[in-house]
Amino acid sequence: MKILVVGKGGREHALITALEESPVATELYCFPGSDAIQPLAQSVEVDGLQSLIEWMVGHQIDLCVAGEESYLVKDEGLANLCEKVGIPCWGPHKQSAQLEASKEFAKEFMLRHDIPTGAATGCANINEARAAIGGVYPTVLKFDGLAAGKGVAVCENEASAEDFLNEVLVERKFGAGRLLVEECLVGPEVSIFAAVCDEEYLIFTPARDYKRIGDNDEGPNTGGMGAVASRQLVDAETLALIEKTIVKPTVDGLVKDGLPYRGYLYFGLMMTAAGPKIIEYNCRFGDPECQAVMPLVQGDLASFCLAASKGEMKPDLLSFDEGWSVCLILASAGYPASSRSGDVISGLQDVDDARVYHAGTKRNADDQWETNGGRVLAVVAGGEDRMSAVDLAYSELAKISFAGAQQRTDIGRMHFEG
Ligand code: AMP
Ligand code: GLY
Repeated sequence: MKILVVGKGGREHALITALEESPVATELYCFPGSDAIQPLAQSVEVDGLQSLIEWMVGHQIDLCVAGEESYLVKDEGLANLCEKVGIPCWGPHKQSAQLEASKEFAKEFMLRHDIPTGAATGCANINEARAAIGGVYPTVLKFDGLAAGKGVAVCENEASAEDFLNEVLVERKFGAGRLLVEECLVGPEVSIFAAVCDEEYLIFTPARDYKRIGDNDEGPNTGGMGAVASRQLVDAETLALIEKTIVKPTVDGLVKDGLPYRGYLYFGLMMTAAGPKIIEYNCRFGDPECQAVMPLVQGDLASFCLAASKGEMKPDLLSFDEGWSVCLILASAGYPASSRSGDVISGLQDVDDARVYHAGTKRNADDQWETNGGRVLAVVAGGEDRMSAVDLAYSELAKISFAGAQQRTDIGRMHFEG
């Protein structure tokens, strides 16, 4: 089976590893790919989406898997273009991917289908936003477009809200677009992933990610500094409630609205005192949750994705381990405001009891690995219980070093107290 995965980060490294470990014979490609992914999946060097489609047709690709989101909504949309040329795509059509690309579209979808979420108001300019905030803090401000995980600010006071409003609506840091002022929800967060195939779905192992750069959830938001995954993260009763109030109504809503969906759908949830509420949809797997979840997935992921992208859900092809998986991110100096490249990474060869997925690395002229991006590496370890996975992940991570490396020390510990 010839599979092309779109993306280049740690999530794609984990996805490709899982596809490669599938029992079915695979020939893997990655666009744009990376030096670390290259031994598993050859990098495809083309310029732009249309050339990628032509390349896939020329190379008789059987399945295209969307790792990252941007191509889903670019030009005519990755899945739409794949459909035109008859290549099955694991990732939704452009119109459905608005669930991630537009916070306002997603909010209207949730309201239309009675899916629990925080109240919100869409705003076109800073005055409308100030009026919508109405002096109530904390408040949550969300840029209405793709912003690589940086478009959301939880503001405790007027000063921080004004800063963010200025960046987004005056300086236009993320480009043109509206902003959503949202009710601040309180509670532990959980990420739920479903493989969606038309009106059917399969829920994968739940995960929790740690978005802030610093310990104790302090400092700015990042793409994610670590994650834990386990079926035990959410008890059966709560998972049944999430399925009934959020997952099923979403999948039914997509069908009702005529929004074609075959691919992963990510539900970012807040477990509030009033029950689970959705804070965001993403039309792909989470990063770094994918790195934590994939080692727990057993079976034939490649055949599962191919069948589901052709409209046939085959849940029996997969099973999920009961244990825990912990993913720790090593980020480069300056992240998340900037990132430093060119720091040589040492110790990778000493890691023997964890998986290492590369996010921002490259091979230098001396054949060493060096940093090449904000999030650099993900170290993932498993265990029967949470703390054994945490301890193993941290002891393996300690073997790796590079100048300026940043990490959190409380992944898998914080949010599990008591
Ligand atoms: P998002 O990019 O939508 O996942 O938002 C990033 C982070 O902002 C989430 O993981 C939450 O920690 C926080 N967040 C988003 N929406 C809300 C909300 N309505 N209330 C409180 N925190 C939120
Ligand atoms: N870990 C959060 C995300 O993938 O959006």
